[in-house]
Amino acid sequence: MRIELPGLLMEHFIEQHSIPDTFGRPLRNLRVSVTDRCNLRCQYCMPEEEYVWLPREDLLTFEELSELVGIFTELGVDKVRLTGGEPLLRRDLPILVKMLAQNPRVKDLAMTTNGVLLAELAKALYDAGLHRVTVSLDTLRPERFKALTRRGMHEKVLNGIKAVREVGFKELKIDTVVMHGTNEDELIDLLEYGWQIGAEVRFIEYMDVGGATQWSMDKVFSRVEILEVLRRWYGRIEPVIEDSSAPAQRYLLPNGVMFGIIASTTTPFCQTCDRSRLTADGMWYLCLYAQNGIDLRKPLRGGASKEEIKSIIVAGWTQRRDRGAEERKELRSRGVFVPIEGLKKDPHLEMHTRGG
Ligand code: GTP
Ligand code: 5AD
Ligand code: SF4
Repeated sequence: MRIELPGLLMEHFIEQHSIPDTFGRPLRNLRVSVTDRCNLRCQYCMPEEEYVWLPREDLLTFEELSELVGIFTELGVDKVRLTGGEPLLRRDLPILVKMLAQNPRVKDLAMTTNGVLLAELAKALYDAGLHRVTVSLDTLRPERFKALTRRGMHEKVLNGIKAVREVGFKELKIDTVVMHGTNEDELIDLLEYGWQIGAEVRFIEYMDVGGATQWSMDKVFSRVEILEVLRRWYGRIEPVIEDSSAPAQRYLLPNGVMFGIIASTTTPFCQTCDRSRLTADGMWYLCLYAQNGIDLRKPLRGGASKEEIKSIIVAGWTQRRDRGAEERKELRSRGVFVPIEGLKKDPHLEMHTRGG
């Protein structure tokens, strides 16, 4: 569908429906990467020894980020998630959270973090108005954590997770990437841990995103395999029927515990995907797998008006045809998505730059 409506009518239309892309998917969910740096080196995301980082002078200031997010929200975005790299490495992040939380159009303000710095920052983030937190945690075993992340800060992460609850956040999720030969033997332990601390655990299939240079299909522990393991232990598992664009399919265990599976590799959710990503230097990507982005820093710093930036965004979204994960699945032989040379040439292709 193409919309050609004048000023006020357009505003009204957007408030009611949001902007549809070529498949009718609304512009609703914006993931904002605030830094490309990370203090861990997870095998599935940052396996290299060295990286090409974004130039510091290109990083958007909090004012610039907040201005862009404001424009997106006037176009229908109401879910904003701060990501990285590791978002808590960005100095004074609670200040940005506060700026974004003051925007009444932002109905859901969340963050995905590796948890290392969370114990120190949870209270400030809560006070600044962050709504909810998702922490990545792939293992409960310190030695395994060290091997998987090439850093030894497991205890800090566990303390960070504890702090989320203590400072008052109501919603906490734990994201676990499950890989064959790495952590598939911890599914039950992780679910029990999540239950104890009141967090919803989501198991994620290993994805062949940019940066996953060690990816191969045989390392993917699929949704079917995950369910098989859990059925053997818990018995009957009921899928929860819900109408949502969220990537996770949720399930209920006989003991009432809810968990999720994000099966982007074997069961992509592109058909309902309402998400796009803004990198820390102001590039806007319409798909996790997109090779090219739309530069919003240049017009922003070049003095473009709000209306001009809006029209760039509307033009981009209304032409969106991306269904990256589905296209990857359709490939006959599936290997590494972007070779290392490609990543070095354009670090925006890295998952850790565009926001995991
Ligand atoms: P909720 O609103 O809490 O459901 O957030 P979320 O699940 O969208 O956010 P989160 O950062 O927890 O994402 C979980 C995982 O889903 C990511 O780490 C990725 O593995 C995967 N994922 C996130 N975004 C995309 C996407 O755009 N496409 C695909 N295929 N997978 C994604
Ligand atoms: N496969 C699946 N998820 C990934 N993430 C990063 N790389 C991958 C990958 N190759 C996600 C994880 C992690 C978050 C920061 O990014 O969910 O928790
Ligand atoms: Fe959306 Fe692209 Fe991810 Fe599919 S692969 S769910 S279109 S971001």
